[in-house]
Amino acid sequence: MCGIVGYIGNNKDIALGLEALKRLEYRGYDSAGIAAYDEATGTIVFAKAVGKIENLERKLAGSSIGGSPILLHTRWATHGEATEENAHPHADCKGNIFLVHNGIIENYAQLKQKLAERGHTFASETDTEVLPHLIEHFFRGNLEEAVRKALSLVKGSYAVAVIAKEDPGKIVAARLSSPLVLSVNGSGGFVASDPAALLAHSNKVVFLDDEEVAVVRQDGFSVSDLKNNLKEKEVTELEWSLEEAQKGGYEHFMLKEIMEQPESIANALRGRLLLEEGKARLGGVEHLREKLRQVKRMNILAMGTALYAGRVGEYMLEEYAGIPCEVDSASEFRYRKPVLDEHTASLFVSQSGETADTLAALKEVKDKGGLALGIVNAVGSSIARGTDAGVYNHAGSEIGVASTKAFTSQLTVLALLALFLGRQRDLSLVIGQCIAKELSRLPELVAKTLESAPQVEEMAKKYKGKENFLYIGRKYSYPIAMEGALKLKEISYIHAEGYGAGEMKHGPIALIDENFPTVALCPSDSVYEKMVSSVQEIKARRGPVIAIATEGNKEIGQLADDVLYIPKTLEMLTPVLSVIPLQLFAYYMGVLRGHNVDMPRNLAKSVTVE
Ligand code: F6R
Repeated sequence: MCGIVGYIGNNKDIALGLEALKRLEYRGYDSAGIAAYDEATGTIVFAKAVGKIENLERKLAGSSIGGSPILLHTRWATHGEATEENAHPHADCKGNIFLVHNGIIENYAQLKQKLAERGHTFASETDTEVLPHLIEHFFRGNLEEAVRKALSLVKGSYAVAVIAKEDPGKIVAARLSSPLVLSVNGSGGFVASDPAALLAHSNKVVFLDDEEVAVVRQDGFSVSDLKNNLKEKEVTELEWSLEEAQKGGYEHFMLKEIMEQPESIANALRGRLLLEEGKARLGGVEHLREKLRQVKRMNILAMGTALYAGRVGEYMLEEYAGIPCEVDSASEFRYRKPVLDEHTASLFVSQSGETADTLAALKEVKDKGGLALGIVNAVGSSIARGTDAGVYNHAGSEIGVASTKAFTSQLTVLALLALFLGRQRDLSLVIGQCIAKELSRLPELVAKTLESAPQVEEMAKKYKGKENFLYIGRKYSYPIAMEGALKLKEISYIHAEGYGAGEMKHGPIALIDENFPTVALCPSDSVYEKMVSSVQEIKARRGPVIAIATEGNKEIGQLADDVLYIPKTLEMLTPVLSVIPLQLFAYYMGVLRGHNVDMPRNLAKSVTVE
């Protein structure tokens, strides 16, 4: 989710690049950097700063840094904390090649080892730094040739822009699974990770496709594939405002982030599935492998949406790893008398890694000498640093206050963790393979689920006047009922309750009448029949029912007033799909009721106070 800007032209003032970079600050803001070719000295000069772009600006004030071509970057960390060493641009050994990158290099550890054996030295903890060194390895005076050779060896995702002082008249840019766009006009040649950076200069852009390499010069560009076959590219004329461009053409960040889920889930899975072995490879917990084998009990601690992810994790870990779990709000746990022993691990789930209550619960566990694990999105955050080991989500920065893509990536990582721990214990090869295979299909299944957005929008029009909703589910769908209700509350300010369907008869059913709709999670799983009974009970009291059901289920359509279908998958992975129509429903309800869905009233993105 980092922001990339590259420029080549007559304007040697860094203000042009900085202004473009600021348009991308929403993509990442933990550090920023710049590298420019200085013609007078024939060198590439650079500067980096931790934090927002204004810190870099402050550092550059009064300096003589400038030139062309120039690269700029604003970082959303994936590997290594927010430090100057880890900030981009990264360089090769000789200070010839400078590169900025967005994405994840899956095989960086292997590449780094081989390069180190050949004498390359590294200055950062990033995956990115292998790229300039790999390009250096192949560089014989022609930058694009070296970039092509280097990228042929890379696994993962990338959008890169590269310059070299020994081949200075160009920016070489390439992409695989991370967006990159270019534009050449009267002011020069531009490269950026999204069009928002370019709109001030031109609305005529060229979108690169996967495994394409572009050579951008001041007055023209060419695009080829990794084998150097030239490609014809279409120029797209954008009619987006700057704000629309930042939102990828969507009306709100929340919708953009909901729609990004196939990609964010693919990023959570990248390099972590061993399909043949039916295992998960989780680099961040590998050093504790033996200790994790001894874990006999787990506390899962989090707040809000992250807590509901933890509740799904409880079902996964108990069913597939055989580890009894206790899930609690970190805000409650911190004041309880936690019973920890050497076989208990505490797992902290947090998007921001800065939630005050979760952090306090972590401190409590650490003070008592407990083992602390993390599932965190923000690299280098307090929770990421405070835990003994953990797994990053790699969901990219989430701007919308209501958590959507971070939630599904938390579920994905929890499934990976259940697989990892399960295969250390009794989980068989065959079941492990089956889970790994189905996990690998998730991005595609999520993309399919998102196709129902227009239908959800229509449904929201029908229900937008209702003031109360009940959400019910069982087993894996119970936490999803709670998450669906939370999303509706946050975004549309409609009162909603999430319940385990079995609880309904013990109280909430008193609320049901023709004005009190229920969203019933009824995927075709081990508790489907029980859910049908609950739906029947609601219908007997004239309550409207929206069912979330598995494709191909015709029966439920005869009972429920409306049905939203999701693709079939393993029961443990169903929550990743079933939450999507609920996110969309909350979004459309909020929009139809005229609310600011990206910044709901009274809420903050990161709750850093108790
Ligand atoms: C709801 C939401 C919050 C967060 C909660 C924890 O949409 O975003 O409930 O999930 O505040 O935040 P993190 O995950 O940053 O610890």
